[in-house]
Amino acid sequence: MIDTKLTLRTDAPIGTISPRLYGHFAEHLERCCYDGLWVGLGNKDIPNIGGFRTDVVNMLRSMPVPMLRWPGGCYADHYHWHDGIGTPESRPQRLGMSCGLQVEDDNGIGTHEFIALCHLIGAEPYLAGNMGSGSVQELCDWLEYSNATIDTTLTRERAANGSRDPFGVKLWGVGNENWGCGGHYDAASYAQEYRRYATMLRHVDPKAELVACGHVDEWNEEFLRINSRWHHLMDHFSIHRYWINGAQETGFNEDQYYNLLAEAQDTENFITTTANTIREYTPKDKTPIKIALDEWGVWHPEARPWGPGHEVMREPLSYEQAGTMRDALAAGIALEVFHRQCNVLSLANLAQILNVLHAPVMTEGAAMWLTPTYYALQLHTPHIGATAIPVEVANGTSVPNGQFSVESNVVSATASRNASGTAVTLINRHFDQAASVTLSTAGLTKVVKARILAGDSPRAQNSIEKPDAIKLADLTVSADGSNQWRIELPAHSMATIEFA
Ligand code: AHR
Repeated sequence: MIDTKLTLRTDAPIGTISPRLYGHFAEHLERCCYDGLWVGLGNKDIPNIGGFRTDVVNMLRSMPVPMLRWPGGCYADHYHWHDGIGTPESRPQRLGMSCGLQVEDDNGIGTHEFIALCHLIGAEPYLAGNMGSGSVQELCDWLEYSNATIDTTLTRERAANGSRDPFGVKLWGVGNENWGCGGHYDAASYAQEYRRYATMLRHVDPKAELVACGHVDEWNEEFLRINSRWHHLMDHFSIHRYWINGAQETGFNEDQYYNLLAEAQDTENFITTTANTIREYTPKDKTPIKIALDEWGVWHPEARPWGPGHEVMREPLSYEQAGTMRDALAAGIALEVFHRQCNVLSLANLAQILNVLHAPVMTEGAAMWLTPTYYALQLHTPHIGATAIPVEVANGTSVPNGQFSVESNVVSATASRNASGTAVTLINRHFDQAASVTLSTAGLTKVVKARILAGDSPRAQNSIEKPDAIKLADLTVSADGSNQWRIELPAHSMATIEFA
C-alpha cells in the first residue's frame, strides 16, 4: 500500500483553467465524422438530429465539449469550404484525403452543419483553414461568409443557406502541420506565407484569433524569429503531441504501461520548451502569444503504425484503437499538465472525438459506448473555468519512467477553486498497488460529491459487448481529523472529490 499526503496551496493560485483547454477535434478521418457523428439527413435507422446521431450528441453534451476543431487535421489542407454549403444535392462529391487515406466525400457535413453540431453540444467552433491546396482568397471568403455582418454576396449566400446571423467563429487555424502533410513548407517559407494569410484575414475580421502552425525545436525557433516583427498577426501557436511509445493497445506489459504514462507527463516539457521559445522571440514590449496544443492523445500502433517497430497490426487501416484504463490515466495526467501550464497554454484538443485514435465515444452501427477516457474527462468537469491551485504531494515513491526521464509520484493530483467550492482530482498511477491518501487543507469542511474511475486491470476497456464494464462510481471519503480527509485509491485509478 502506498501512503501519500496531499496539501493544496490555496495561497498560490496558478491561473484560470480556460474551457478551451477541454477542447476536442473532429476530422474527416475514417469513421470520426461520416458514419460516426454524422449518419445523414433523413436516416430512419439511427435516431438523429439534423443528421447527427442523437445518442452521441447527448453524450458529448454531458462530457462536456467546450470547444471543437474541424475539419482537420491533414484533411483541412484539402478542404474547400464552398463545397459544403447549399442544398445536399448541389454539393460536389470529392476525393476526401487525410493521413494517407482516401474517401468519397459527399460534403454532407459543411459549415452550417458543423455550427449546428456546436450549438447542439455547447461547443465553441474552431475552424482549420486550408493553406495546402487553397488560397488566401478562399480562406478570406470562408471568414467573411462565417463572420461578416455587412451586406455582401457571401453574407447573402449565408442567409439564403439558413443563417442570417453570422456564426461569429473566433478561432481560425492558418493551415495544419504545414511542416508535413500541409505542404512540407520549411519554417522560412511558412513564416512568409503565414504573414500573407494573416494580414488578409485580419482585414476581413480583426477580431478573429489566428492560430499559426508550429512544429518542434529549430522549426519553431526559425518561424518565431522570422515573424517576431509581425507579432500582431499571431494569437496562438499550434503544436501537436501524440504518445506513441506504449506498445500495443491492450497487449502491453508493466514497463510499457509506465512508459506511456511517462510520455504523457513529458508533454509538460514540450509545452514549457515551446513557451520558452515563444518568450525568447517575443518583442520586449509585447505579451507572448500562447500555445494551442490542438492535437494530443494516445496513438496506438493498431490505429496506424507509427513510431517504434512500424509493423502493420490491423488492416485495413482504420485509425481505430481500443481505449483502456491506461489511456484514461494518460489523459488525466495531461489534464494535470494543462492546469499547471494554464498561463502559457490557451487551448487543447483531444484527438479525436469519435471512433478514431484517443476517442472518448465509440459507435458501431446503432450501438454506442463510452471509453474510460470519456469518464476521465467527465471527472474533470468541476475544474473547467475554475482557478488552478498547486497541490503538494508528500510521497517518497516515484513511478518508473522508462525512456522518458520525467519524475512523477505514484499519486499525483490537480485542484481548482470556483465560486461553489474546491475540487481535487487524484490519480494513482501504480500498476498494481493501492494507495491511501491523506488530504489536509484548511477550509475543506464538507464533501459534496466524490466519484472514482477504476477497473480490474489497466487493460480494462468498454466494448460493444460490455459497454458498462468501466464507469464512474461513488467514492467514500472519510474525515480523518479536522480539515483532513482520507481517500483510498485502488491501483490505476482516478477520482474527483468536490468540497463545498
Ligand atoms: O489526428 C490524425 C492526424 O494526425 C491529423 O490529421 C494530423 O494533423 C496529425 O498528423
